[in-house]
Amino acid sequence: MAHGSAGRVLRGCEPPLQLLVGPLPLLLVLWHTPPSAGSLHVKMAGTTQTVLLNDNATVFCQVYGHPSPNITIMGITWFWKGPASATEVKLFEFFGGHQMIGRPGAMVPLKNLESGNASLQLPGIQLREAGVYRCEVVITPHKAVGQVKLEVVASPVSNLFPEQAVVKENQETHILCMSSGLHLNNITITWRKLSQKDPQEISEGIITNHTNENGMFNVTSFLMLKPSLDDSMTIYQCVIHHKSLPSPQKLNFTLTVIESEKAACILKNIFLYIGAILLAGLILSIIFIFLKKVLPQTNPLSSILKASRNTQTYTGETEEL
Ligand SMILES: *[C@@H]1O[C@H](CO)[C@@H](O)[C@H](O)[C@H]1NC(C)=O
Ligand SMILES: *[C@@H]1O[C@H](CO)[C@@H](O)[C@H](O)[C@H]1NC(C)=O
Ligand SMILES: *[C@@H]1O[C@H](CO)[C@@H](O)[C@H](O)[C@H]1NC(C)=O
Ligand SMILES: *[C@@H]1O[C@H](CO)[C@@H](O)[C@H](O)[C@H]1NC(C)=O
Repeated sequence: MAHGSAGRVLRGCEPPLQLLVGPLPLLLVLWHTPPSAGSLHVKMAGTTQTVLLNDNATVFCQVYGHPSPNITIMGITWFWKGPASATEVKLFEFFGGHQMIGRPGAMVPLKNLESGNASLQLPGIQLREAGVYRCEVVITPHKAVGQVKLEVVASPVSNLFPEQAVVKENQETHILCMSSGLHLNNITITWRKLSQKDPQEISEGIITNHTNENGMFNVTSFLMLKPSLDDSMTIYQCVIHHKSLPSPQKLNFTLTVIESEKAACILKNIFLYIGAILLAGLILSIIFIFLKKVLPQTNPLSSILKASRNTQTYTGETEEL
């Protein structure tokens, strides 16, 4: 209980005084004992940490310089200050075996604390919880403070249209890639062509636009293609970059290119076949009419003679044609 009241004293004091008053009871006890080897310090996740909206976020804070953090003489306090706020709010405190939770679910598991991990867990983090987070660790007689700017972002939602297409060679084709998200900035879209070799960045034929309305960030990117036959079955990739994405989102577009002459070629061949059939029919008709004219004149007496002559004529006609 004595430590609990010390915690309350700490809460009411100005930062410079906290330094002295917070650990004061134990400080007095340890006044004449030599300070432990090495000074205490904490390490944060750089100056800025980005977490995803609705995620079970962990604000990083690792304690260094103390060989074996003993939670019975250890205090940890987490403060938060919103971007528009002037005052800090205490989110979590563990001091002298007493725990205070100022935000539902805010937690530094004691098990982690024993191994020097003072990271704050914030389940289901919201956009309004962005701001500066301060981790204050006291292991009597030392104290260390670290702070980090926390950004809460929603990951973008992206679409590609169409996902595949069959086009004639040299026919202009447009692909649209869209990405959007609430309270997002700097979503960028790039295009790649995946050929047999390495993927190639596309730099030409791209029109990109973005809008930002009521906090909704929208980016659209058109890729214009005039494919050659070599581009058939090539995958084009829309690559979406955003800091909330551990790796870029990639959407595929598959293109099938057909020869533009192919259709005309088939048609030409059809006409050629029809022409040949008609010609053959015409020839046969002529022969048939000719034979019909010649055969009735044949009389029984000279049938053998005429037959041989007709055969000759027939052969002659065929050769002539
Ligand atoms: C957050 O933690 C809760 C409880 O452990 C779990 O049900 C939920 O799926 C977690 N959410 C995410 C986004 O990991
Ligand atoms: C994001 O946008 C801001 C303002 O437009 C700019 O200052 C910053 O450099 C951009 N960041 C990245 C990573 O593109
Ligand atoms: C891009 O945005 C500008 C301004 O809003 C508009 O005039 C233009 O038509 C847009 N371009 C495309 C390709 O959507
Ligand atoms: C896109 O194409 C690449 C290359 O073939 C492939 O590795 C990847 O799995 C594809 N992605 C999707 C979403 O189909």
